[in-house]
Amino acid sequence: MRLTDCHNIDDFRQLARKRLPWPVFDYIDGAADDEITKARNTSAFDHVDLVPDVLAGVGEIDTSCTIMGRQSALPLMLSPTALQRAFHRDGERAVALAAEKFGLWFGISSLATHSIEEIASLTSGPKLFQLYVHKDKGLNASMIERCQEAKFDALALTVDTIVSGKRERCLRSGFTTPPRFSASSLWSYATRPYWTLNYLFSPKFRLPNLDDHVREGTGKAVSIQDYFNTMLDTNMDWDTAARIRQDWGGTFCLKGIMSAADARRAVDIGADAIMISNHGGRQLDGSRAPFDQLGEIVDAVGGEIEIICDGGIRRGTHVLKSLCTGATAASGGRLYLYALAAAGQAGVERALGILKDEIERGMRLMGVTSVKQLTPDRLRWR
Ligand code: FNR
Repeated sequence: MRLTDCHNIDDFRQLARKRLPWPVFDYIDGAADDEITKARNTSAFDHVDLVPDVLAGVGEIDTSCTIMGRQSALPLMLSPTALQRAFHRDGERAVALAAEKFGLWFGISSLATHSIEEIASLTSGPKLFQLYVHKDKGLNASMIERCQEAKFDALALTVDTIVSGKRERCLRSGFTTPPRFSASSLWSYATRPYWTLNYLFSPKFRLPNLDDHVREGTGKAVSIQDYFNTMLDTNMDWDTAARIRQDWGGTFCLKGIMSAADARRAVDIGADAIMISNHGGRQLDGSRAPFDQLGEIVDAVGGEIEIICDGGIRRGTHVLKSLCTGATAASGGRLYLYALAAAGQAGVERALGILKDEIERGMRLMGVTSVKQLTPDRLRWR
């Protein structure tokens, strides 16, 4: 299977599975507990049907929209994800450049393998920084200041990771950062020499947005679950979120809101946007799908705050269904991570090209010429 054989996001997943050692693939693909929520995030879109209009003159269509004050060529964002150089040697750099090429928002994680400054100097496209609140208040302040200096467009505070989800595939594989070879996975590394040689001969694996003392404090190789459970602030609450919004002073988003009540609290502290998200099913298994919660959150706070539906997006029609339900945009992680793992920047560009094509094709087949026409009357719940 080659890159040109990939015609949808699942094809990239198959290719990534072939190219990555299994502990690395399972870190991307895996989720919490029984992975019920991860599966539900995508299957939720099957509970609604699109109702097309025909003969609508769809020669010219406009897929663009404004998200958090910046123009986006599509109603789609690339969610922040950790450790991208473990998946491909070009890491976040490849994804940021592909996002810029397609005119899309790029999210960089606190646990990124490229620095805030590197990403800022690399692209002029819209960028958000995702903040995990650490116990070390100095570290939080320093990341916020660095984002201010680098003129990031938005800060997204992740609120669903107060402790790590139980990611059993990672427990079995012993996946760590930096990736470490173990006896049980050695064969998998040996039979993926392209990945293994690239990894061994790449510059040292680092998490440059975290101060050195944090890495020293956690030892050399650490599982992400241990990292979350020892380094993040379990006392984070709404006062913390309000304080961070104030310290940041710019466009502010809460990532990981799932209830209408919390969406209301987000409005009350002055957030500009919320990402309805369960972290791609990696945290609370059994949680509802973002798309299933979208309607009631739109009813509660629609028009007062931007609402981004994050998780489970694998098709252009998933984006269209999110917009019809009232989202400003949809967002996803694995939709570009499988492609990054499969073929670096070229892979991400091909995946984004496929999604762009699916969004455009879907809009034409729906008989709409602009994303504003994607309204609730275009949907029926089963
Ligand atoms: C994530 N996600 C994530 N979220 C976050 O706030 N900070 C992070 O560092 C990460 N890291 C991360 C790594 C990997 C491998 C995955 C798959 C996900 C969650 C991410 O931002 C997003 O919410 C989910 O990916 C959405 O689900 P889908 O699109 O992957 O189904």
